Amino acid sequence: MNKKPLILVVSLFMVLVLVLTGCAGPAGTTGPAGAQGPAGEKGTTGAQGPAGDRGPAGTTGPAGVQGPVGPAGTAGATGPAGPAGTAGTGGNVTALFSTVNTSLPLWAALGGTAPRMLELAEHFNIMWFAGQAGNWDAVMFEAYRVDETVKANVIVRPARKEALESWSKPAVAAIQQAATSKNITAFVAEYDRAILGCNACHMTMGGGPLGNMSAHKIIRPTSPLYSNINLNP
Ligand code: HEC
Repeated sequence: MNKKPLILVVSLFMVLVLVLTGCAGPAGTTGPAGAQGPAGEKGTTGAQGPAGDRGPAGTTGPAGVQGPVGPAGTAGATGPAGPAGTAGTGGNVTALFSTVNTSLPLWAALGGTAPRMLELAEHFNIMWFAGQAGNWDAVMFEAYRVDETVKANVIVRPARKEALESWSKPAVAAIQQAATSKNITAFVAEYDRAILGCNACHMTMGGGPLGNMSAHKIIRPTSPLYSNINLNP
């Protein structure tokens, strides 16, 4: 393509522009700025947005250190009274001395029935020879000693009390009655009745290893136990 006519056209156009602009008057000065317009109206409040998603669970933290010891608590209220105790055995000496308890050494050391029986045999020996001699005071005294012996016997062996006293009370009373009346016949009759009582009991009552005491038969004595006791009034 031949560029010459195009360049010619553009050149002509530019000459025309230069002619036209060179012909215009000087430029006017810029006018003052217009006043600011009024403020716009306030917009409406926007709607609340949707809740966010729940976050992931946190990891477990390290154990805390133990806290310091707390202050001491206040004392508790007084508890209720306890039950009454059982009576002690140590305090009442009279009770200890009055009731057989062979687990206590003093009671265990005391003789039971057998030693008292030998005393009965002695008293019935002395009593017989006193009666034969007409010594009624001695008969009275030995009968009294039979009663005392049974008293001592039933303290250490209370289980024997009824049997022993049912024999001794009437026997002692009858012998003392004969002594009071100084009646040798009555005395011998009551003496024999008494020793029948000894044997009647021995037939039924046992002692130690024996089921009954019939091995010990009581009879009138044939010789005084004590040659140094003079029973002649
Ligand atoms: C109520 C029953 C009873 C009467 C009454 C009785 N006795 Fe006994 N006698 C016994 C018993 C029980 C024994 C055994 C005692 C024992 O084992 O500790 C015994 C034992 C004896 C013994 C043996 C004692 C010894 O240690 O060897 C003589 C002795 C004895 N009597 C004499 C008499 C005479 C004497 C009389 C009457 C004046 C008498 N007795 C009345 C129950 C009686």
